[in-house]
Amino acid sequence: RPRLDLLVLPGDGIGPEVVREGVLLLRELEPSLPAELHIREGAIGGAAVDEVGDPLPADTLSAALSAGAVFLGAVGGPRWENLPAERRPEQGLLRLRKEMRVFANLRPLRLPPELSFLSPLRLEILGEGGLDVLIVRELVGGIYFGEPRGIFVEGGERVAVDTLRYREEEIARVVDVAFRIARTQGKPLASVDKANVLASSRLWREVVEAKRAEYPDVPVRHVLVDAFAMDLVRRPTAYGVVVTENLFGDILSDLGGALVGSLGLLPSASLSEGGPHLYEPVHGSAPDIAGQGIANPAGMLLTVAMFLRHTLAAEDAASAVEAAVFATIARGRVTPDLAEACRRAHASGRCPAPEVLSTAEFGAAV
Ligand code: NAD
Ligand code: IPM
Ligand code: MN
Repeated sequence: RPRLDLLVLPGDGIGPEVVREGVLLLRELEPSLPAELHIREGAIGGAAVDEVGDPLPADTLSAALSAGAVFLGAVGGPRWENLPAERRPEQGLLRLRKEMRVFANLRPLRLPPELSFLSPLRLEILGEGGLDVLIVRELVGGIYFGEPRGIFVEGGERVAVDTLRYREEEIARVVDVAFRIARTQGKPLASVDKANVLASSRLWREVVEAKRAEYPDVPVRHVLVDAFAMDLVRRPTAYGVVVTENLFGDILSDLGGALVGSLGLLPSASLSEGGPHLYEPVHGSAPDIAGQGIANPAGMLLTVAMFLRHTLAAEDAASAVEAAVFATIARGRVTPDLAEACRRAHASGRCPAPEVLSTAEFGAAV
């Protein structure tokens, strides 16, 4: 078997707690995978600030760029909130994404029908098929990175500047990924923007329109982001693949976390072109529950499934992991974030009596 080097970056808060379960799952699967996995750990985020004073140490970055794939837990927390911008943990993650050129962040919002009871949405709104929407978020451009940025003094007062900037090619490459997935999955594409106000969105629309010619078989709609936020809650079945810019994608994916019942359920894959991909759950370091061993590792385990699919092309293993995660929850075996939804569903006969598990117990059950 070929060798594949994995760099694992646990980070802060619940990051290390969920990453541990991801690594245990990888080790369990390893003998039957098409590649031999060599797993190394590195420092990032607040943990790296504490260790070496830099949220993305040079050796972490070089290990990431030469790895076969990179896993990230989460970064950030109250301890590092008052550091200058460039030394904040989040800056380490943003730089890592930028340097790895992982421009296409796939964030699936999936809830199979047997888990519909986790969603606050009524059954008739979710539909027979459960929830199945893919957000494709542009990840290395837009207002997260545009220059100039910062707080300046102007006319005796402070002025804050962020710049939302996209080159045509930056839009085209992520839109192309979204079109390709929509075609493969036979789904419609929605491009979400704010073209009634933002120049960047008007260019975004033009690029989508131009791409359309290459994918005449994919139905495309443009939707304004405010209306989309409402519509995703009102009729999620109208959507298949959604492509959007960096900040809109960030906000909308947390909305997705509410729709599936917990942010702790959402995985993501950040894809580059030709380089290693970065695999990260959607949630953050969750300081409110960190250190208690109660974080939901499902998002991380489903992120492992995305690695199996996108880096190893091991589709069978990927679907097996997804099925195991969903089946564990369907049996009422859940971490505390899902316990209340499960209890309510149990009262109406839609879920077995919940058995509340720790992070490690849930991982072991999967
Ligand atoms: P968060 O995602 O950490 O938490 C939001 C809420 O969801 C909290 O109530 C938390 O307990 C809950 N939650 C999140 N993941 C969970 C899980 N796996 N299981 C159970 N519950 C879960 O967002 P926040 O509190 O706004 O941010 C905390 C820190 O994390 C900040 O420093 C932020 O910058 C950082 N952050 C990092 C990432 C990342 O590393 N990718 C993503 C988002 C936020
Ligand atoms: C995410 C997070 C990050 C983002 C932060 C921590 C920089 O919220 O991955 O969704 O905004 O991209
Ligand atoms: Mn986010």
